Amino acid sequence: MSSVTIVGSQWGDEGKGKIVDWLASQADVVVRFQGGHNAGHTLVINGQNYKLSLLPSGVVRKKISIIGNGVVVDPQALLNEIVRFKEKNIEITPDILKIAENCPLILPSHVVLDQAREKVRGNHKIGTTGRGIGPTYEDKVARRAIRLCDLTEPETLTWRLDELLAHHNALLASLGEKIFTKDEILEYLKRVAVKVLPFMAPVSELMAGYLKSNKFILFEGAQAIMLDVDHGTYPFVTSSNTVPSQTGIGSGTGPKSGGYILGIAKAYTTRVGAGPFPTELFDETGKHLGEKGYEFGTVTGRPRRCGWFDAVLVRHAVQVGGLNGLALMKLDVLDSLKEIKICVGYKLDGKKIEHFPYTLEAQKRLEPIYETIPGWNEKTYGIRSKENLPIAARNYIERIETLTGVKVVVISTSPEREDTILSENFLAKC
Ligand code: GDP
Ligand code: IMO
Ligand code: MG
Repeated sequence: MSSVTIVGSQWGDEGKGKIVDWLASQADVVVRFQGGHNAGHTLVINGQNYKLSLLPSGVVRKKISIIGNGVVVDPQALLNEIVRFKEKNIEITPDILKIAENCPLILPSHVVLDQAREKVRGNHKIGTTGRGIGPTYEDKVARRAIRLCDLTEPETLTWRLDELLAHHNALLASLGEKIFTKDEILEYLKRVAVKVLPFMAPVSELMAGYLKSNKFILFEGAQAIMLDVDHGTYPFVTSSNTVPSQTGIGSGTGPKSGGYILGIAKAYTTRVGAGPFPTELFDETGKHLGEKGYEFGTVTGRPRRCGWFDAVLVRHAVQVGGLNGLALMKLDVLDSLKEIKICVGYKLDGKKIEHFPYTLEAQKRLEPIYETIPGWNEKTYGIRSKENLPIAARNYIERIETLTGVKVVVISTSPEREDTILSENFLAKC
Protein backbone atom coordinates (compact mmCIF):
# COMPACT_ATOMS: atom_id res chain seq x y z
CA MET A 1 0.00 0.00 0.00
CA SER A 2 1.53 3.31 -0.99
CA SER A 3 -1.32 5.77 -1.08
CA VAL A 4 -2.79 8.40 1.20
CA THR A 5 -6.34 9.70 0.92
CA ILE A 6 -6.94 13.23 2.18
CA VAL A 7 -10.52 14.18 3.05
CA GLY A 8 -12.17 17.01 4.93
CA SER A 9 -13.74 15.88 8.18
CA GLN A 10 -15.97 18.90 8.87
CA TRP A 11 -17.79 21.16 6.36
CA GLY A 12 -14.89 21.93 4.03
CA ASP A 13 -12.03 24.43 3.87
CA GLU A 14 -10.09 22.60 6.58
CA GLY A 15 -6.79 23.00 4.74
CA LYS A 16 -6.81 19.91 2.53
CA GLY A 17 -4.88 21.72 -0.21
CA LYS A 18 -2.06 22.67 2.15
CA ILE A 19 -1.62 19.06 3.32
CA VAL A 20 -1.85 17.60 -0.19
CA ASP A 21 0.84 20.03 -1.34
CA TRP A 22 3.01 19.29 1.71
CA LEU A 23 2.81 15.52 1.15
CA ALA A 24 3.16 15.90 -2.60
CA SER A 25 6.93 16.40 -2.23
CA GLN A 26 7.07 12.63 -1.75
CA ALA A 27 4.24 11.63 -4.08
CA ASP A 28 4.30 10.56 -7.72
CA VAL A 29 0.65 11.12 -8.55
CA VAL A 30 -2.15 13.34 -7.16
CA VAL A 31 -5.76 12.37 -7.95
CA ARG A 32 -9.06 14.24 -7.61
CA PHE A 33 -11.93 11.73 -7.39
CA GLN A 34 -15.11 13.77 -6.77
CA GLY A 35 -16.54 17.28 -6.74
CA GLY A 36 -15.62 19.92 -9.25
CA HIS A 37 -14.65 23.58 -9.26
CA ASN A 38 -16.83 24.17 -6.21
CA ALA A 39 -13.60 23.32 -4.35
CA GLY A 40 -11.14 26.04 -3.42
CA HIS A 41 -7.80 24.80 -2.13
CA THR A 42 -5.23 27.39 -1.11
CA LEU A 43 -1.50 26.78 -0.92
CA VAL A 44 1.01 29.26 0.46
CA ILE A 45 4.59 28.64 -0.61
CA ASN A 46 7.24 31.16 0.46
CA GLY A 47 4.58 33.84 0.75
CA GLN A 48 3.17 33.14 -2.71
CA ASN A 49 -0.54 32.14 -2.85
CA TYR A 50 -1.92 29.49 -5.20
CA LYS A 51 -5.65 28.83 -5.42
CA LEU A 52 -6.83 25.60 -7.01
CA SER A 53 -10.40 24.74 -7.87
CA LEU A 54 -10.44 21.92 -10.37
CA LEU A 55 -6.75 21.22 -10.80
CA PRO A 56 -5.27 18.74 -8.33
CA SER A 57 -2.88 20.47 -5.91
CA GLY A 58 0.00 18.34 -7.26
CA VAL A 59 0.31 20.58 -10.33
CA VAL A 60 2.28 23.14 -8.33
CA ARG A 61 5.06 20.60 -7.80
CA LYS A 62 4.62 19.35 -11.37
CA LYS A 63 3.50 15.91 -10.20
CA ILE A 64 1.29 13.79 -12.43
CA SER A 65 -2.15 15.19 -11.70
CA ILE A 66 -5.28 13.21 -12.44
CA ILE A 67 -8.87 14.36 -12.70
CA GLY A 68 -10.78 11.13 -12.19
CA ASN A 69 -14.17 10.17 -13.61
CA GLY A 70 -15.88 11.04 -10.30
CA VAL A 71 -15.18 14.73 -10.93
CA VAL A 72 -17.60 16.96 -12.86
CA VAL A 73 -15.61 19.13 -15.27
CA ASP A 74 -16.53 22.62 -16.46
CA PRO A 75 -14.28 22.89 -19.55
CA GLN A 76 -14.19 26.69 -19.64
CA ALA A 77 -13.45 26.93 -15.89
CA LEU A 78 -10.63 24.41 -16.38
CA LEU A 79 -9.11 26.43 -19.22
CA ASN A 80 -9.36 29.64 -17.18
CA GLU A 81 -7.57 27.97 -14.29
CA ILE A 82 -4.82 26.71 -16.59
CA VAL A 83 -4.33 30.29 -17.85
CA ARG A 84 -4.17 31.61 -14.26
CA PHE A 85 -1.38 29.12 -13.54
CA LYS A 86 0.48 30.06 -16.70
CA GLU A 87 0.48 33.65 -15.44
CA LYS A 88 2.27 32.30 -12.35
CA ASN A 89 4.80 30.54 -14.58
CA ILE A 90 3.35 27.09 -14.02
CA GLU A 91 2.72 25.48 -17.37
CA ILE A 92 0.04 22.78 -17.25
CA THR A 93 0.77 20.35 -20.07
CA PRO A 94 -0.78 16.99 -21.03
CA ASP A 95 2.34 15.33 -19.54
CA ILE A 96 1.23 16.52 -16.13
CA LEU A 97 -2.55 16.79 -16.29
CA LYS A 98 -4.69 13.82 -17.30
CA ILE A 99 -8.48 13.90 -17.36
CA ALA A 100 -10.61 10.76 -17.43
CA GLU A 101 -12.57 10.15 -20.62
CA ASN A 102 -15.72 9.43 -18.63
CA CYS A 103 -15.88 12.70 -16.68
CA PRO A 104 -19.34 14.32 -16.94
CA LEU A 105 -19.20 17.89 -18.28
CA ILE A 106 -20.74 20.93 -16.64
CA LEU A 107 -22.46 22.93 -19.40
CA PRO A 108 -23.63 26.57 -19.28
CA SER A 109 -27.24 25.35 -18.81
CA HIS A 110 -26.23 23.50 -15.60
CA VAL A 111 -24.92 26.73 -14.14
CA VAL A 112 -28.13 28.63 -14.94
CA LEU A 113 -30.22 25.78 -13.50
CA ASP A 114 -28.18 25.70 -10.27
CA GLN A 115 -28.57 29.44 -9.73
CA ALA A 116 -32.24 29.57 -10.77
CA ARG A 117 -33.15 26.71 -8.40
CA GLU A 118 -31.42 28.50 -5.54
CA LYS A 119 -33.46 31.64 -6.28
CA VAL A 120 -36.77 29.79 -6.00
CA ARG A 121 -35.74 27.98 -2.82
CA GLY A 122 -36.25 31.23 -0.89
CA ASN A 123 -35.67 30.59 2.83
CA HIS A 124 -34.53 27.04 2.15
CA LYS A 125 -31.53 27.99 0.00
CA ILE A 126 -28.62 25.54 0.21
CA GLY A 127 -26.14 28.29 -0.49
CA THR A 128 -24.50 26.37 -3.35
CA THR A 129 -21.44 27.75 -5.08
CA GLY A 130 -23.68 28.33 -8.13
CA ARG A 131 -21.31 26.46 -10.43
CA GLY A 132 -23.65 23.83 -11.80
CA ILE A 133 -22.33 20.99 -9.64
CA GLY A 134 -25.68 19.61 -8.41
CA PRO A 135 -27.50 19.63 -11.79
CA THR A 136 -24.53 17.90 -13.46
CA TYR A 137 -24.44 15.06 -10.92
CA GLU A 138 -28.22 14.73 -11.34
CA ASP A 139 -27.77 14.30 -15.08
CA LYS A 140 -25.00 11.76 -14.57
CA VAL A 141 -27.24 9.54 -12.46
CA ALA A 142 -30.17 10.10 -14.84
CA ARG A 143 -27.92 8.92 -17.72
CA ARG A 144 -28.29 12.23 -19.54
CA ALA A 145 -24.83 13.74 -18.97
CA ILE A 146 -22.45 14.61 -21.77
CA ARG A 147 -19.04 13.12 -21.00
CA LEU A 148 -15.63 14.33 -22.07
CA CYS A 149 -15.21 11.41 -24.52
CA ASP A 150 -18.49 12.36 -26.24
CA LEU A 151 -16.67 15.39 -27.67
CA THR A 152 -14.74 13.00 -29.91
CA GLU A 153 -17.89 11.48 -31.46
CA PRO A 154 -20.01 14.11 -33.25
CA GLU A 155 -22.90 11.70 -33.86
CA THR A 156 -23.14 10.62 -30.25
CA LEU A 157 -22.85 14.21 -29.09
CA THR A 158 -25.75 15.33 -31.28
CA TRP A 159 -28.37 12.90 -29.99
CA ARG A 160 -27.10 13.09 -26.40
CA LEU A 161 -27.41 16.87 -26.52
CA ASP A 162 -30.98 16.62 -27.90
CA GLU A 163 -31.95 14.50 -24.93
CA LEU A 164 -30.18 16.75 -22.42
CA LEU A 165 -31.55 20.01 -23.80
CA ALA A 166 -35.12 18.71 -23.98
CA HIS A 167 -34.86 18.18 -20.24
CA HIS A 168 -32.95 21.38 -19.39
CA ASN A 169 -35.09 23.64 -21.52
CA ALA A 170 -38.33 22.34 -19.98
CA LEU A 171 -36.90 23.05 -16.54
CA LEU A 172 -35.46 26.44 -17.52
CA ALA A 173 -38.76 27.55 -19.06
CA SER A 174 -40.64 26.53 -15.92
CA LEU A 175 -38.21 28.62 -13.86
CA GLY A 176 -38.68 31.61 -16.15
CA GLU A 177 -35.12 31.40 -17.51
CA LYS A 178 -33.86 31.74 -21.08
CA ILE A 179 -33.60 28.43 -22.92
CA PHE A 180 -30.48 27.24 -24.77
CA THR A 181 -30.30 26.27 -28.44
CA LYS A 182 -28.46 23.17 -29.53
CA ASP A 183 -26.32 25.26 -31.86
CA GLU A 184 -25.03 27.54 -29.13
CA ILE A 185 -24.03 24.60 -26.91
CA LEU A 186 -22.46 22.77 -29.85
CA GLU A 187 -20.52 25.85 -30.85
CA TYR A 188 -19.31 26.26 -27.25
CA LEU A 189 -18.27 22.61 -26.99
CA LYS A 190 -16.45 22.75 -30.32
CA ARG A 191 -14.50 25.77 -29.15
CA VAL A 192 -13.40 24.24 -25.83
CA ALA A 193 -12.87 20.70 -27.16
CA VAL A 194 -9.78 21.70 -29.12
CA LYS A 195 -8.08 22.88 -25.95
CA VAL A 196 -9.38 20.32 -23.45
CA LEU A 197 -9.20 17.07 -25.43
CA PRO A 198 -5.37 16.96 -25.42
CA PHE A 199 -5.64 16.35 -21.66
CA MET A 200 -8.01 13.39 -22.05
CA ALA A 201 -6.39 10.11 -21.01
CA PRO A 202 -7.31 6.50 -20.16
CA VAL A 203 -7.15 7.23 -16.44
CA SER A 204 -8.20 3.87 -14.99
CA GLU A 205 -5.58 2.14 -17.11
CA LEU A 206 -2.90 4.64 -16.10
CA MET A 207 -3.87 4.25 -12.47
CA ALA A 208 -3.62 0.45 -12.72
CA GLY A 209 -0.06 0.93 -13.97
CA TYR A 210 0.85 3.36 -11.17
CA LEU A 211 -0.54 0.99 -8.54
CA LYS A 212 1.25 -1.98 -10.05
CA SER A 213 4.58 -0.19 -10.06
CA ASN A 214 4.01 0.93 -6.46
CA LYS A 215 3.93 4.66 -7.19
CA PHE A 216 3.06 6.86 -4.20
CA ILE A 217 -0.45 8.15 -4.89
CA LEU A 218 -2.28 10.96 -3.09
CA PHE A 219 -6.06 11.09 -3.40
CA GLU A 220 -7.17 14.69 -2.90
CA GLY A 221 -10.70 14.96 -1.51
CA ALA A 222 -12.78 18.06 -2.08
CA GLN A 223 -15.54 19.35 0.22
CA ALA A 224 -15.86 17.21 3.35
CA ILE A 225 -17.63 14.35 5.04
CA MET A 226 -20.36 16.56 6.57
CA LEU A 227 -21.14 17.70 3.00
CA ASP A 228 -21.37 14.10 1.71
CA VAL A 229 -24.65 13.44 -0.08
CA ASP A 230 -25.32 10.34 2.05
CA HIS A 231 -23.61 11.03 5.35
CA GLY A 232 -23.71 14.82 5.68
CA THR A 233 -26.33 17.31 6.79
CA TYR A 234 -28.69 16.44 3.92
CA PRO A 235 -30.10 18.34 2.01
CA PHE A 236 -27.52 21.01 2.96
CA VAL A 237 -24.73 19.07 1.28
CA THR A 238 -22.97 18.87 -2.04
CA SER A 239 -24.13 16.36 -4.67
CA SER A 240 -21.23 13.92 -4.55
CA ASN A 241 -19.94 11.29 -2.16
CA THR A 242 -17.02 12.91 -0.42
CA VAL A 243 -16.17 9.95 1.82
CA PRO A 244 -12.92 8.05 1.14
CA SER A 245 -14.86 5.04 -0.20
CA GLN A 246 -15.36 7.21 -3.29
CA THR A 247 -11.66 7.07 -4.28
CA GLY A 248 -12.01 3.75 -6.10
CA ILE A 249 -15.24 4.67 -7.88
CA GLY A 250 -14.07 8.15 -8.79
CA SER A 251 -10.74 7.07 -10.26
CA GLY A 252 -11.47 3.57 -11.53
CA THR A 253 -9.13 1.80 -9.13
CA GLY A 254 -11.19 -0.55 -6.97
CA PRO A 255 -11.95 -0.41 -3.26
CA LYS A 256 -8.46 -0.91 -1.81
CA SER A 257 -6.48 1.82 -3.53
CA GLY A 258 -7.04 4.59 -0.94
CA GLY A 259 -4.37 3.45 1.51
CA TYR A 260 -3.97 5.50 4.70
CA ILE A 261 -7.01 7.73 5.26
CA LEU A 262 -6.05 11.12 6.66
CA GLY A 263 -8.93 13.32 7.80
CA ILE A 264 -8.26 17.05 7.82
CA ALA A 265 -9.86 19.05 10.66
CA LYS A 266 -9.61 22.65 11.77
CA ALA A 267 -8.88 23.21 15.46
CA TYR A 268 -12.32 24.85 15.46
CA THR A 269 -15.23 24.54 12.98
CA THR A 270 -16.38 26.57 9.98
CA ARG A 271 -19.14 26.25 7.44
CA VAL A 272 -19.92 28.26 4.31
CA GLY A 273 -23.46 28.12 2.97
CA ALA A 274 -26.64 27.20 4.82
CA GLY A 275 -27.47 24.25 7.07
CA PRO A 276 -27.27 23.09 10.68
CA PHE A 277 -24.14 23.97 12.69
CA PRO A 278 -24.59 23.11 16.38
CA THR A 279 -21.43 24.84 17.71
CA GLU A 280 -21.77 28.02 15.63
CA LEU A 281 -20.84 31.18 17.55
CA PHE A 282 -22.66 34.45 17.01
CA ASP A 283 -20.61 36.39 19.57
CA GLU A 284 -17.24 38.16 19.71
CA THR A 285 -15.35 34.83 19.82
CA GLY A 286 -17.00 33.74 16.56
CA LYS A 287 -16.03 37.06 15.01
CA HIS A 288 -12.48 36.69 16.35
CA LEU A 289 -12.09 33.21 14.80
CA GLY A 290 -13.35 34.54 11.46
CA GLU A 291 -10.96 37.49 11.47
CA LYS A 292 -7.87 35.71 12.81
CA GLY A 293 -8.47 32.64 10.62
CA TYR A 294 -9.28 34.83 7.61
CA GLU A 295 -12.43 32.79 7.09
CA PHE A 296 -13.71 33.84 3.68
CA GLY A 297 -14.65 31.30 1.01
CA THR A 298 -11.91 30.76 -1.59
CA VAL A 299 -14.50 30.22 -4.34
CA THR A 300 -17.28 32.68 -3.57
CA GLY A 301 -15.62 35.09 -1.09
CA ARG A 302 -18.53 34.57 1.33
CA PRO A 303 -17.69 34.89 5.06
CA ARG A 304 -17.51 31.46 6.67
CA ARG A 305 -19.61 30.78 9.76
CA CYS A 306 -17.35 29.94 12.75
CA GLY A 307 -17.71 27.92 15.95
CA TRP A 308 -16.00 25.63 18.45
CA PHE A 309 -14.50 22.24 17.61
CA ASP A 310 -17.27 19.65 17.53
CA ALA A 311 -15.85 16.29 18.59
CA VAL A 312 -19.16 14.48 18.00
CA LEU A 313 -19.22 15.63 14.40
CA VAL A 314 -15.59 14.68 13.74
CA ARG A 315 -16.17 11.29 15.43
CA HIS A 316 -19.06 10.78 12.98
CA ALA A 317 -16.63 11.59 10.15
CA VAL A 318 -14.07 9.15 11.58
CA GLN A 319 -16.70 6.42 11.59
CA VAL A 320 -18.40 6.92 8.22
CA GLY A 321 -15.11 7.78 6.53
CA GLY A 322 -12.97 5.08 8.15
CA LEU A 323 -10.37 7.73 9.02
CA ASN A 324 -7.02 6.42 10.28
CA GLY A 325 -5.69 9.71 11.65
CA LEU A 326 -6.24 13.47 11.68
CA ALA A 327 -4.31 16.52 10.55
CA LEU A 328 -5.24 19.34 12.94
CA MET A 329 -5.08 22.68 11.16
CA LYS A 330 -5.05 26.35 12.16
CA LEU A 331 -4.02 25.73 15.76
CA ASP A 332 -2.48 29.23 15.69
CA VAL A 333 -5.92 30.82 15.24
CA LEU A 334 -6.74 29.84 18.86
CA ASP A 335 -3.51 31.43 20.19
CA SER A 336 -4.94 34.41 22.05
CA LEU A 337 -8.00 32.77 23.58
CA LYS A 338 -8.12 32.48 27.39
CA GLU A 339 -10.46 29.48 27.26
CA ILE A 340 -11.31 27.02 24.53
CA LYS A 341 -14.45 24.91 24.32
CA ILE A 342 -14.91 21.48 22.78
CA CYS A 343 -18.32 20.02 22.09
CA VAL A 344 -18.38 16.55 23.66
CA GLY A 345 -22.07 15.70 23.24
CA TYR A 346 -25.47 17.28 22.64
CA LYS A 347 -28.74 17.74 24.43
CA LEU A 348 -31.72 17.01 22.25
CA ASP A 349 -35.08 17.86 23.78
CA GLY A 350 -33.57 17.56 27.24
CA LYS A 351 -31.91 14.16 26.57
CA LYS A 352 -28.15 13.69 26.28
CA ILE A 353 -26.94 12.16 22.99
CA GLU A 354 -23.45 11.42 21.76
CA HIS A 355 -24.04 10.90 18.06
CA PHE A 356 -24.99 13.18 15.20
CA PRO A 357 -28.68 12.63 14.29
CA TYR A 358 -29.70 12.48 10.62
CA THR A 359 -33.08 14.24 10.96
CA LEU A 360 -32.86 17.87 9.93
CA GLU A 361 -35.11 19.42 12.57
CA ALA A 362 -33.28 17.44 15.27
CA GLN A 363 -29.95 18.73 13.93
CA LYS A 364 -31.25 22.28 14.24
CA ARG A 365 -32.41 21.75 17.85
CA LEU A 366 -29.14 20.25 19.11
CA GLU A 367 -27.67 22.06 22.11
CA PRO A 368 -23.94 21.43 22.42
CA ILE A 369 -22.52 20.17 25.71
CA TYR A 370 -19.14 21.84 26.14
CA GLU A 371 -16.02 21.00 28.03
CA THR A 372 -13.92 24.10 28.73
CA ILE A 373 -10.16 23.90 28.67
CA PRO A 374 -7.61 26.60 29.41
CA GLY A 375 -6.15 28.36 26.37
CA TRP A 376 -2.38 28.74 25.95
CA ASN A 377 -2.44 32.46 25.34
CA GLU A 378 0.90 32.44 23.55
CA LYS A 379 2.09 32.21 19.98
CA THR A 380 2.08 28.86 18.19
CA TYR A 381 2.12 30.52 14.75
CA GLY A 382 4.92 29.00 12.69
CA ILE A 383 6.04 26.44 15.31
CA ARG A 384 7.53 23.40 13.58
CA SER A 385 7.96 20.81 16.34
CA LYS A 386 5.47 19.33 18.76
CA GLU A 387 7.88 19.73 21.72
CA ASN A 388 7.84 23.50 21.19
CA LEU A 389 4.06 23.76 21.45
CA PRO A 390 2.72 25.07 24.78
CA ILE A 391 1.58 22.32 27.18
CA ALA A 392 -2.02 23.59 27.03
CA ALA A 393 -1.99 23.24 23.25
CA ARG A 394 -0.66 19.70 23.52
CA ASN A 395 -3.38 18.91 26.08
CA TYR A 396 -6.01 20.26 23.69
CA ILE A 397 -4.70 17.99 20.93
CA GLU A 398 -4.67 15.01 23.27
CA ARG A 399 -8.28 15.67 24.27
CA ILE A 400 -9.29 15.77 20.60
CA GLU A 401 -7.56 12.42 20.08
CA THR A 402 -9.43 10.85 22.99
CA LEU A 403 -12.80 12.23 21.92
CA THR A 404 -12.51 11.39 18.22
CA GLY A 405 -10.83 8.01 18.71
CA VAL A 406 -7.94 8.67 16.29
CA LYS A 407 -4.44 10.13 16.58
CA VAL A 408 -3.55 13.63 15.43
CA VAL A 409 -0.64 12.75 13.16
CA VAL A 410 -0.11 16.19 11.60
CA ILE A 411 -0.39 19.67 13.15
CA SER A 412 -0.46 22.87 11.14
CA THR A 413 0.51 26.24 12.61
CA SER A 414 0.30 28.66 9.67
CA PRO A 415 -0.75 28.73 5.99
CA GLU A 416 2.90 28.24 4.90
CA ARG A 417 3.82 24.87 3.42
CA GLU A 418 6.68 24.23 5.87
CA ASP A 419 4.87 25.28 9.05
CA THR A 420 3.60 21.75 9.44
CA ILE A 421 4.46 19.21 12.13
CA LEU A 422 4.55 15.47 11.46
CA SER A 423 3.67 14.38 14.99
CA GLU A 424 3.45 10.69 14.18
CA ASN A 425 5.10 9.15 11.17
CA PHE A 426 1.96 7.71 9.59
CA LEU A 427 3.78 7.52 6.26
CA ALA A 428 5.63 4.49 7.60
CA LYS A 429 2.23 2.72 7.52
CA CYS A 430 1.66 3.57 3.85
P1 GDP B 1 -9.31 23.43 1.67
O1 GDP B 1 -10.50 23.74 0.84
O2 GDP B 1 -9.58 22.35 2.67
O3 GDP B 1 -8.07 23.16 0.88
O4 GDP B 1 -9.02 24.73 2.56
P2 GDP B 1 -9.01 26.25 2.00
O5 GDP B 1 -7.76 26.48 1.28
O6 GDP B 1 -10.29 26.59 1.35
O7 GDP B 1 -9.04 27.03 3.38
C1 GDP B 1 -8.03 26.88 4.34
C2 GDP B 1 -7.41 28.27 4.59
O8 GDP B 1 -6.64 28.23 5.78
C3 GDP B 1 -6.46 28.69 3.49
O9 GDP B 1 -6.52 30.08 3.34
C4 GDP B 1 -5.09 28.26 4.03
O10 GDP B 1 -4.02 29.05 3.51
C5 GDP B 1 -5.26 28.51 5.49
N1 GDP B 1 -4.50 27.64 6.38
C6 GDP B 1 -4.21 26.33 6.22
N2 GDP B 1 -3.55 25.86 7.30
C7 GDP B 1 -3.43 26.89 8.17
C8 GDP B 1 -2.88 27.04 9.48
O11 GDP B 1 -2.39 26.10 10.10
N3 GDP B 1 -2.97 28.28 10.05
C9 GDP B 1 -3.55 29.34 9.42
N4 GDP B 1 -3.60 30.50 10.06
N5 GDP B 1 -4.08 29.24 8.19
C10 GDP B 1 -4.04 28.03 7.58
P1 IMO C 1 -13.45 22.71 -0.45
O1 IMO C 1 -12.93 21.56 -1.28
C1 IMO C 1 -16.78 24.48 1.70
C2 IMO C 1 -20.78 23.87 0.04
C3 IMO C 1 -21.50 25.09 -0.51
C4 IMO C 1 -22.94 24.69 -0.20
C5 IMO C 1 -22.93 23.18 -0.47
C6 IMO C 1 -23.45 22.79 -1.86
O2 IMO C 1 -12.79 24.00 -0.73
O3 IMO C 1 -13.45 22.34 0.99
P2 IMO C 1 -22.42 22.95 -4.31
O4 IMO C 1 -22.00 24.12 -5.11
O5 IMO C 1 -21.36 21.93 -4.08
O6 IMO C 1 -23.70 22.31 -4.81
O7 IMO C 1 -22.81 23.56 -2.86
O8 IMO C 1 -21.60 22.76 -0.32
N1 IMO C 1 -19.43 23.63 -0.54
C7 IMO C 1 -18.29 23.86 0.12
N2 IMO C 1 -18.07 24.40 1.32
N3 IMO C 1 -15.75 24.05 0.97
C8 IMO C 1 -15.95 23.48 -0.23
O9 IMO C 1 -14.96 22.90 -0.95
C9 IMO C 1 -17.27 23.41 -0.74
N4 IMO C 1 -17.83 22.96 -1.90
C10 IMO C 1 -19.14 23.09 -1.75
O10 IMO C 1 -21.12 26.26 0.18
O11 IMO C 1 -23.20 24.88 1.16
MG1 MG D 1 -11.69 25.37 0.31
